[in-house]
Amino acid sequence: MNKQTVRDIDVSDKKVLVRVDFNVNLDEKTREITDDSRIRAALPTINYLSEKKAKIILCSHMGRPGGKVVENLRLEIVAKRLSKLIGRPVITTNDCIGPEAEIEADGLDDSELLLLENLRFHPEEEENDPVFAAALAKLADIYVNDAFGTAHRAHASTEGVTKFLPAVAGLLMEKELEYLGGILENPVQPFGGLVGGAKVSDKVAMLENIMSKVDFILIGGGMAATFLKVKSYEVGLSLVEEDRIDTARNLMEKAEKAGVRLVLPTDVMVTEEIKAGAPREIVPIDKISRDKRIVDIGHRTIELFSSELHRAGTVFWNGPMGINEIPDFTAGTHAMALLLSSLDADTIIGGGSTADVVINMGLADKMTFISTGGGASLRFLGGKKLPGVEALLDKKE
Ligand code: 3PG
Repeated sequence: MNKQTVRDIDVSDKKVLVRVDFNVNLDEKTREITDDSRIRAALPTINYLSEKKAKIILCSHMGRPGGKVVENLRLEIVAKRLSKLIGRPVITTNDCIGPEAEIEADGLDDSELLLLENLRFHPEEEENDPVFAAALAKLADIYVNDAFGTAHRAHASTEGVTKFLPAVAGLLMEKELEYLGGILENPVQPFGGLVGGAKVSDKVAMLENIMSKVDFILIGGGMAATFLKVKSYEVGLSLVEEDRIDTARNLMEKAEKAGVRLVLPTDVMVTEEIKAGAPREIVPIDKISRDKRIVDIGHRTIELFSSELHRAGTVFWNGPMGINEIPDFTAGTHAMALLLSSLDADTIIGGGSTADVVINMGLADKMTFISTGGGASLRFLGGKKLPGVEALLDKKE
């Protein structure tokens, strides 16, 4: 990585503002944290700064409060979990800028931790407002961006603030860029992509960018319907992005020219209704009736995808194979997760709902790397610059 990291700058005794991505999943009813992996992922940077006796000021967003205070999106609950994980108190504030935050930041002892309130309670955060960014910067001497998951957003806390403070990457940011960059630069061959999820449009840039590097791409999930349509299959009521049919056709042509095998399902699970308990059946792709929709891949497709994946040296997986929210339609996704966990290959999981599946199945430590960024990892693998990374100081010659 050509950006300076927290190791390249003297942080001892300094007040360090660390942008983390503590946008964790909360249970809808109990508002308990259901997955704290994003908090755990920030621990190496926090521990490093503690060892160096920095005064640590963490900031993050959670959810999309839309620029106003939303009580159940306060970060208190995250502070409690963080405190439990590191075995030390974490001070909190009622606001991320202003007199209270300034007094707390100034009063920090060496290695002490402060977590500011949800940045997105201020509309100026997402607007990348310079006055708001300056108010954040006023709290610290150095800025560290460890929020890979939010690095594709040019917000005040990811981009604006770097205009006011020396800005370097945290250790999670460094690790993410190394692993994801590694599969673009030097993947162990053969390299295969396993791609699912609802929409082709979310994945086009990524698919185009990895096309020159992969041997094969396996397509499952809702987006498979658009590709099947290109091949003139009847896909019934499945969601087809009509305006992306040409895009899908182009991708198929590009794959053929590049010698990349783009593999589509050969059988699928279909149902009339997308709801738990609805009657469902597995049919070959040339037997999908007009009143049904695709909700998962079928057994033969699982076998086909598995045999492809078995010979891979690197696999990048993004997007579920079926409708993840309904347990009846998750067999394909679970089969792929189990298979990847057993492979003797580099397995890189591209954040978001795919990461949730792997973590919930208890398979996280059997994968080579699970990105903490959903949108950010797709953007990065799509060959796009991440504003939160671009704004950091370059490495010295
Ligand atoms: C994420 O969960 O992908 C990041 O925290 C960014 O959140 P956002 O999509 O609301 O900007």
